[in-house]
Amino acid sequence: MKTVSFTLNGAPARLTVDETRPLLWVLRDDLALTGTKYGCGEAVCGACTVLVDDEPVRSCAMAVGEVEGRRVTTIEGLARDGRLHPVQQAFVDRVGFQCGFCTPGMILDACALLAKRPSPTRDEIVRHMDDHLCRCGAHTRILDAIEHAATTMKGGAR
Ligand code: FES
Ligand code: FES
Repeated sequence: MKTVSFTLNGAPARLTVDETRPLLWVLRDDLALTGTKYGCGEAVCGACTVLVDDEPVRSCAMAVGEVEGRRVTTIEGLARDGRLHPVQQAFVDRVGFQCGFCTPGMILDACALLAKRPSPTRDEIVRHMDDHLCRCGAHTRILDAIEHAATTMKGGAR
């Protein structure tokens, strides 16, 4: 067991855990942040994606001990002051989901993309999101939502 301290959705977090446990299960079971989803458990599907220091990571494949001193953002940390993040709003506006299971991971990785490439081409979005699986087959609407988010975020909207 080890005490791990990190920043979680903008607030300090400190917990004593088996540092080898996957971040996914610490988030879901210990911290009740169930927006992060378990899909494959093998770093393949992307459902468990969170941001660590603004980079997308597969939380099923990252030990919680690795986030010591770092910033972790989950889907619960995106909305501010009761308003959805523009990428979340774009997914709502373009219905970029069906069951919603893959959606948190899709949105967080889209945020990471748009932070680096505010105006990506459709091909760049496809390439960036290529390793996320949507079992509902909503991929086209997901891509539309990310394009829409890029448009609405132009001009400095968060
Ligand atoms: S649950 Fe982590 S990538 Fe599928
Ligand atoms: S919306 Fe159901 S898995 Fe993607």
